[in-house]
Amino acid sequence: MQLKDKVAVITGSAAGIGRRAAVRFASEGARVVVSDLDDAAGADTVAEIRSNGHEAAYCHSDVMKIADLEALMDFATATYGGVDIFWHNAGTTSAAINSDRSGYHPGITEADWDQQMNVHLKAGFFGARLAVDQMMKRGGGAILFTSSAAALKPPVGTAPTYPIAKHGLILLTKMMAVDLAKHNIRVNAICPASIKTAMIEGLLADDSTKGIVDDLVKQMPMGRILEMDEVAACATFLVSQQASAITGTVLPIDGGRTSL
Ligand SMILES: NC(=O)c1ccc[n+]([C@@H]2O[C@H](COP(=O)([O-])OP(=O)(O)OC[C@H]3O[C@@H](n4cnc5c(N)ncnc54)[C@H](O)[C@@H]3O)[C@@H](O)[C@H]2O)c1
Repeated sequence: MQLKDKVAVITGSAAGIGRRAAVRFASEGARVVVSDLDDAAGADTVAEIRSNGHEAAYCHSDVMKIADLEALMDFATATYGGVDIFWHNAGTTSAAINSDRSGYHPGITEADWDQQMNVHLKAGFFGARLAVDQMMKRGGGAILFTSSAAALKPPVGTAPTYPIAKHGLILLTKMMAVDLAKHNIRVNAICPASIKTAMIEGLLADDSTKGIVDDLVKQMPMGRILEMDEVAACATFLVSQQASAITGTVLPIDGGRTSL
């Protein structure tokens, strides 16, 4: 049990990587606060965890709202007594991701820019700061950010908003890691690439979009799309005591993509 009795708050854990990791954290002994915008899927995630005989509770939280993040920490504290692990995983791609390839991206609106900076970067900073308040009371903790391989090796010709916001999380990881080391709080980031979530499953299921996945596979030295469990395993390691000497680390989970 790598996370026995730890209280773990994971944003964006009703679906995809966050959900898979919530199930895994709970199976490793954590009491998991599942949080998301999608209440039905969040409740379903909690039901899955409980049906495995493990502990979880759901809290609605829009990470773009600081008041919601405050309420999330209050919920974790009221329900499980504090916060040991905070993982800011919620995220969305830019609405303008493929809007324009001319090089100056007129498709990016102010709303798109703000949404990307807020959901990734603002939420990461304020969520982590609020979690730190709780971790200090418990003598330490672990923070994890989901960045992206796109932040390490920006995709050519796509909107820069998502990679910029995700790159900001890398700098935040390093700055917080240095500042918080003296408080026994570790801060790390993961940079996934091409993970088999519902979006990729959807592309694969349709003959007209399968080619998009084939193109992604060509960019992966391992020659395959990666599994959500492979991300969840790395995240579990980074927030566990097994990684007690690791802080400020940015871990690509990318099948070699960013080494190309
Ligand atoms: N799937 C990939 O290949 C991949 C690659 C690199 C990075 N990532 C990152 O991994 C993270 C998880 O992505 P995923 O692929 O599992 O996506 P997903 O869409 O399956 O899950 C994301 C979850 O975040 C939630 N969410 C979105 N906006 C939110 C908000 N404002 N407040 C709270 N919750 C919100 C969604 O409701 C959803 O449940 C994201 O940060 C994403 O950018 C994914």
